[in-house]
Amino acid sequence: MGLAAGFDKDGRAISGLELLGFGAIEVGTVTPRPQAGNPRPRLFRHREAATLENAMGFNNAGAAALARRLIRLEGRSSPLGINLGKNKTTPNEDAAEEYGGLARRFDGMCDYFVVNVSSPNTPGLRDLQTAATVESLLAAVLAETSSPVLLKLSPDLDTGQAIELATGAIATGAAGVILTNTTIDYSLLPTAHRVGGLSGRVLRRRSLELLHAVAPKVFGRGLLVSVGGVDSGPELYRRLRAGAGLVQIYTALAYGGPGVVGHILRGLLECLDRDGVATVGEVVGADLA
Ligand code: FNR
Repeated sequence: MGLAAGFDKDGRAISGLELLGFGAIEVGTVTPRPQAGNPRPRLFRHREAATLENAMGFNNAGAAALARRLIRLEGRSSPLGINLGKNKTTPNEDAAEEYGGLARRFDGMCDYFVVNVSSPNTPGLRDLQTAATVESLLAAVLAETSSPVLLKLSPDLDTGQAIELATGAIATGAAGVILTNTTIDYSLLPTAHRVGGLSGRVLRRRSLELLHAVAPKVFGRGLLVSVGGVDSGPELYRRLRAGAGLVQIYTALAYGGPGVVGHILRGLLECLDRDGVATVGEVVGADLA
């Protein structure tokens, strides 16, 4: 189980996060230049729904600052991913250049990259989610690194579109896909402020649904990363069985605190014991067979 992007945007807490029990850490979204993000308030709790609503807008200290921190980092114990984005002021026509430039800068400093075209809080970013544009962004990144590159998709895509983008990404050379980013389907939460993306419990059903839809086309050809509303051992177990080779969390950590990582992992062990499974690897994709 890994940490999802957006929690440690600037790579400030990697060592501590590893100690919590995460098996992979994704930092970012990082943009080439530092940017302040949207004005506050930009993050809201909907505690009764175990949901967060965020309109952060890629606040981050920029690529140079992240690179400096990663260089100083000693002895990582789990895989590190860097989630890439573009600056708010960069027109979409120049996006490929920015994603490619970031991959060049960080090549060799991490274990995987993520091309993030699915955050709802950078105007126009989701417009990059067309087959042709995704292909050009991935090609720009793949040209700069031999590390695995993943594509992170929105839960608000049509299911057919998500399948097309995922299979297209693999055909272009991506190592896999991350399903999903936050949703702006406010019908899921009538009390939402309608300013940002929703994560946590209200996202759970759609995230799992997209995993079910995409897995038959991608499993065995690329890595499926499942994220969205995972907050228990049984839910983690479900995602693994559905084909996810990596499952990430964010909102569960915000509500449950640092102990939630061990709690979820112990819950997974109970599921494995109950079903007489010896290793996690045995169950990945078990429901697809
Ligand atoms: C996010 N998420 C996110 N994703 C991303 O690709 N880049 C980012 O910078 C951020 N930033 C971010 C900030 C905040 C406050 C939240 C709550 C979320 C999305 C995150 O990685 C994940 O895809 C969703 O939150 C769904 O997972 P959970 O939270 O339901 O476990």
